Amino acid sequence: MALAVMCSGGDAPGMNPAIKKFVDYAQKKDQVPYLIYDGLEGLIDNKIKKATHHEVAGIVHIGGTIIRSSRSKRFFEYEYRLQAFNNLNLHDIQGVVVLGGDGSFRAMQRFSSEFDINFVGIPSTIDNDIYGTEYCLGVDTALNVIRDALDKIRDTAASFNRAFLIEVMGRDCGYLAVVSAMISGAEICIIPEVEFKRDEVEKKLTQEIKDGRNYILAIISEGAKKTSEIHEWIQDKLGLETRVSILGHIQRGGNPSVYDRMMAFDFTIQAVDYLLSHNDSNKVVVFNKGEFSFMEIEDVVSNKYELPEHLLNAINYLD
Ligand code: F6P
Repeated sequence: MALAVMCSGGDAPGMNPAIKKFVDYAQKKDQVPYLIYDGLEGLIDNKIKKATHHEVAGIVHIGGTIIRSSRSKRFFEYEYRLQAFNNLNLHDIQGVVVLGGDGSFRAMQRFSSEFDINFVGIPSTIDNDIYGTEYCLGVDTALNVIRDALDKIRDTAASFNRAFLIEVMGRDCGYLAVVSAMISGAEICIIPEVEFKRDEVEKKLTQEIKDGRNYILAIISEGAKKTSEIHEWIQDKLGLETRVSILGHIQRGGNPSVYDRMMAFDFTIQAVDYLLSHNDSNKVVVFNKGEFSFMEIEDVVSNKYELPEHLLNAINYLD
């Protein structure tokens, strides 16, 4: 059986170990592995190649994805989805493993509702915002990049009387921000899911500053869209000179952590085994309480990920 792997949407550390495992494991199972380059764009343009050991040798430690990714506008149009389907048939590909996030799964859901395709999605996004799974590939590495940046920013913050406002990624999800705030001991954490109790925080920090606090770390999730407002507030109301660091795309890069490599291997084995034992799959592999299972793509894309209670409580505590 010919099987293919593709990355779609934002890249995430862990994609390369998954690609490597995909090729090795498919071969071990006597299947023919294919690589789809450039995500859905490449699927439309038939950038599909049979994989050999050579393409995936020495990639487990590299961030990003060696087969590249894309956010495809053309895939929203039926004629291009038809072209993509014809390309899969051209190579006689009977199953596809898709490493991607929410948007990519939405695209695959539409694709599979129109055409007879067999696919399994592996949640891969640093945002950790996919419904049905506690963990998405890339999150641990991204958190370690953020941790490293915050530790360094704290060094300079502690050496001055200053506030530092650090904006982290996550799209509309505050996961990265909350966990980063917890592990760095930040005084302020602002996420889209929770109303920021500005007056309460102002009262508390004003008192702490009077009592000798000389610097503040504030983590803000990009989805809150409050970075400049909070910058002004800290300067004007708390009276601390404030610097803003927007961490940006460094959060998506870097060598995958040990955990992301191990998770990549496990997610991939689950996905390939599922494709080999079902001929009507349109599922996502999910990971909860230490176990893998499979969820219908419809359920994944029609529900919104919600932050677990213990993380929301941590925000209240920080406030
Ligand atoms: O989904 C991953 C992510 O890095 C988000 O955190 C961020 O909002 C977005 O992608 C950035 O997208 P782009 O790489 O297209 O600028």
